[in-house]
Amino acid sequence: MKIEKWVVREHVEGVPDVDRVYEKVVENVDVTLAPDEMLLRTLYVSVDPYLQGIALDTPIGSHMGADSIMEVVAAGPRAAHGVGDLVQGFGGWRSHVVSTGAAEPWQTGTFPMVFPAYRRLDPGWYDDALPLATALSVMGGPGMTAWGTLAKYMTVKPGDTFVISGASGAVGALVGQLAALAGARVVGTTSSPQKAEYLLGLGFDTVVVYRHTDGADTVREALTRAAPDGVDRYFDNLGGTVTDVVFSMLNVGSQVAVCWQWATQVGNEETGPRLLPYLMFPRATVRGIFSLEWFTEQNWKDLHADLGSRVRRGEVVCDHTLHHGFDAIPAAYRSLYGDRAESRGKVLVAL
Ligand SMILES: NC(=O)c1ccc[n+]([C@@H]2O[C@H](COP(=O)([O-])OP(=O)(O)OC[C@H]3O[C@@H](n4cnc5c(N)ncnc54)[C@H](OP(=O)(O)O)[C@@H]3O)[C@@H](O)[C@H]2O)c1
Repeated sequence: MKIEKWVVREHVEGVPDVDRVYEKVVENVDVTLAPDEMLLRTLYVSVDPYLQGIALDTPIGSHMGADSIMEVVAAGPRAAHGVGDLVQGFGGWRSHVVSTGAAEPWQTGTFPMVFPAYRRLDPGWYDDALPLATALSVMGGPGMTAWGTLAKYMTVKPGDTFVISGASGAVGALVGQLAALAGARVVGTTSSPQKAEYLLGLGFDTVVVYRHTDGADTVREALTRAAPDGVDRYFDNLGGTVTDVVFSMLNVGSQVAVCWQWATQVGNEETGPRLLPYLMFPRATVRGIFSLEWFTEQNWKDLHADLGSRVRRGEVVCDHTLHHGFDAIPAAYRSLYGDRAESRGKVLVAL
């Protein structure tokens, strides 16, 4: 049968030039399945900023990996899932996938990671209030990252000042809403006044509009105004100047979650350990976040029971921006790196 896929044709550093990086390939695939294999049809593909690093580590000519929701359309007698099952896994930018759905090691060059085995999605978990696409957003990786950080690591007390950098994305917007529900005073940083309005609408108390050319003094002045009593909790999506300033504002007993470092990863800004003295007096804890550690059956159930119920009750908003069609995938991915004026929340492609 004919399978469409986007392959990596060139390794390009920095903000992805998708026309150079990706090429669409249509190939004829023999779908004679081994006893433990499945043929799956992709329904939704997730686009996420971390794919920038994945693309750089993908061999030229290989398909682009990504989180996706797939339906099993054929299965060998010993396959992990049966025909008609819906699964979530790292199926990639492919219209169809032939796979056992087993966990897959991925040597990124930075650190080794393993993409988990395909996870069967319980149809009873999804309805109009929590549609299937949420398995890639609030009920998937972004939701687990936000919820896991607050449920498993950070302790939030009423009145804490909670700062989130790069706050307007799928993860940051959820972290902010959960922190607000826990009683924190939530301060976001974002890159445009429109995004700031959006975050205020979600319940953020204050939003600092930050641009990459802003100097440390400008950022410090704005953050000091937004957080006059210092910072108790910091969820870092950004790194760079914002993080430099926030570190110098940490209060005693503060906690920092390092979720991503846009400035280093995409902006090629290498920074050293010059911030570490700031951790000493406030006795701050800094913890790396790697949400795959929370991808267990029990945590998926807890995520649905806790965050899923909050979405159903309307306490937490999870917006989606849905693009349509296989050919739309690279442009949808590229939109993550623009001003995102047209998009809200989690960006997905429906095939
Ligand atoms: N550690 C983990 O386990 C884990 C798990 C999931 C995701 N992540 C990472 O966490 C980050 C947030 O994920 P997400 O799903 O929320 O992504 P997202 O929806 O695409 O949001 C990413 C954020 O990046 C900022 N951004 C976009 N373009 C930018 C640019 N040119 N320069 C600087 N910042 C820019 C935006 O911040 P503004 O609001 O400032 O515009 C946006 O809010 C991603 O980098 C993702 O890869 C890590």
